[in-house]
Amino acid sequence: MDRVGQYEDLKAEIHSVVAGETYVPARYASAACLLAEAFRPRFFWTGFYIVDTLKPGELVVGPYQGTLGCLRIPFGKGVCGACADQQASIIVPDVHAFPGHIACDSRTNSEIVVPVFDANGKLAAVLDVDSEQPDAFDETDRLGLEAICARLLTA
Ligand code: SME
Repeated sequence: MDRVGQYEDLKAEIHSVVAGETYVPARYASAACLLAEAFRPRFFWTGFYIVDTLKPGELVVGPYQGTLGCLRIPFGKGVCGACADQQASIIVPDVHAFPGHIACDSRTNSEIVVPVFDANGKLAAVLDVDSEQPDAFDETDRLGLEAICARLLTA
């Protein structure tokens, strides 16, 4: 199966697993698990940074699969913070060339970050996927991950 088909299947699986779940971290954890499993080993770190409603302008680490991630990222800092600011997906083919990139694990060479919105269209989190491979992410990943994130909180 090609990657477009893989994302289609994964989207259906993730949305069906989380359907009706009221505890939001369970939704994030299930998505991180299924995404990491599906695209191992290309996905080296897969997880969510959540908008901290108690500390405006800060993301705090949520459910993830991978090595230890940094706990907090201010809006505007690193790729996750830039995504939170812009509320749009960012693909970084070479993290070493990204100004202000936060290196939680030096093995990361490329990454993609996708925003997650709640039912009111407000930014709730960002999905961060890191890879040891350089230039690991393309438009298929962006569209696939965006489609999964689009209904992650409302399925
Ligand atoms: N690379 C990210 C930081 C998070 S971790 O790598 C898990 C960034 O620059 O936003």
